Amino acid sequence: MDGNGRWAAARGLPRVEGHRRGVEALRRTVRAAGDLGIGYLTIFSFSSENWSRPPSEITDLMGLLRRFIRKDLVELHKSNVRVRIIGERDDLDRDICLLLQEAEDLTRNNDGLTLVVAFNYGARQEIARAARKLAIEVAAGRLSPDDITSEHLGTHLHAPDIPDPDVIIRTSGEQRLSNFLLWQAAYSELVFVPINWPDFDRTAFESAIEEYRRRERRFGGLAANSGS
Ligand code: FPP
Repeated sequence: MDGNGRWAAARGLPRVEGHRRGVEALRRTVRAAGDLGIGYLTIFSFSSENWSRPPSEITDLMGLLRRFIRKDLVELHKSNVRVRIIGERDDLDRDICLLLQEAEDLTRNNDGLTLVVAFNYGARQEIARAARKLAIEVAAGRLSPDDITSEHLGTHLHAPDIPDPDVIIRTSGEQRLSNFLLWQAAYSELVFVPINWPDFDRTAFESAIEEYRRRERRFGGLAANSGS
């Protein structure tokens, strides 16, 4: 959800206004994803590195998350959305941890869209955490280093049951992953959209999906028409 700050700066508004409009874009995108029959939508809403932002902006972002869960959770539940959270919870305020837990608990049995909120999330941190868990198993003598496979490491990530993303859409014209789902993105198609997140709408979403559909995915194999 990149470009909130630039959207606000272009209009002479404070950054928080960009983030507020970003939450509206999120609501639109969740509705569109449900309508398009998408199974999983993961949003990168606060990275492990975002703690380096000014304290006032961090307070604003935490406030917006609180408000989003308090205001939108019932609606999400009614729409059969299941909410999952990935990221480290240890550094978060206790009331935020409780809200995140409440969102997961309330929507646990919903079988529509799964909305995965990456909050206080960093992919390298996630992989290091998985490696630590494997190291503990090895140290306890329950696992031999020779038995560690990529599948095995994958089971120690935050949400191992969630499929790898088919497509990652980044807004605002930036063309990098910025520590987002590095493990899971091994074969994801990347689509870069040159508009700021607050302007992201159903049309932009659909055209990003269209671009993804035109890609040929080979997963390291050969193209269908590459001959014998
Ligand atoms: C990227 O824009 C956006 C963020 C770092 C924060 C997005 C998070 C929220 C809107 C908080 C609410 C969260 C939920 C789940 C409701 P940027 O600030 O990096 O923009 P810039 O690159 O233009 O400065």
